[in-house]
Amino acid sequence: MTKVVAIDGPAGAGKSTLAQAVADHLGLERLDTGAMYRAVAWSVLDGGVDPADTAAVGELARRLVIEVGDRVTVDGRDVTEKIRTAAVDRAVSAVAANAEVRTSLVDRQRRWVAGRGAGVVEGRDIGTVVLPDADLKIYLTARTGERARRRAGERDDGRSVAEIETDLQRRDRLDSTRHHSPLVSPEDVADDAVIIDSTGKSADEVLREVLACL
Ligand code: CDP
Repeated sequence: MTKVVAIDGPAGAGKSTLAQAVADHLGLERLDTGAMYRAVAWSVLDGGVDPADTAAVGELARRLVIEVGDRVTVDGRDVTEKIRTAAVDRAVSAVAANAEVRTSLVDRQRRWVAGRGAGVVEGRDIGTVVLPDADLKIYLTARTGERARRRAGERDDGRSVAEIETDLQRRDRLDSTRHHSPLVSPEDVADDAVIIDSTGKSADEVLREVLACL
């Protein structure tokens, strides 16, 4: 029986939509680990902490109380919308490259799964680092232009599709070249991961491909 599902892939590939659909289908909860990194990045910006001060950022991450569910809260403050702004998009990869931030969040992510014994977890390093024993690992990708168009449909912050595309490419570059738990390319995904390219496919088609793997 499939109890733990890992979904990884680059920015805007449709991981959240897929993770929610798989979670609903299996009657499991979903954990969006990107929202946790975003919550730390938002706190860094909000607190005026220098993102380059790795010790201060690590210390901040360790003491934040982060709840990720239908709403996202940090120390009890609802930041659901605040973590999805262009400013957080720009800052999050540097914060996620911080080894202390990763240690703290990966530990919470593993505890989240251990406490439930099941769940659908999405991110960049879930099948490779966080949950290498997941029952099903999906690596979801799509062409950059399509990812940017989808993201433009979700955001209303004045950025053009071309600007969003540049931002996504920059974030993917930072996420794949960092030292700790980088986002791997499709050629280097975990041996047991199923690679799905969602370019030109509806959310339903992608879900059907995943369900066929169960
Ligand atoms: O939604 P989108 O695909 O744009 O990104 P996200 O899943 O919300 O993740 C935001 C950022 O968090 C990524 O660009 C990574 O820098 C970082 N992240 C990570 O390092 N490891 C994870 N497991 C999840 C996200």
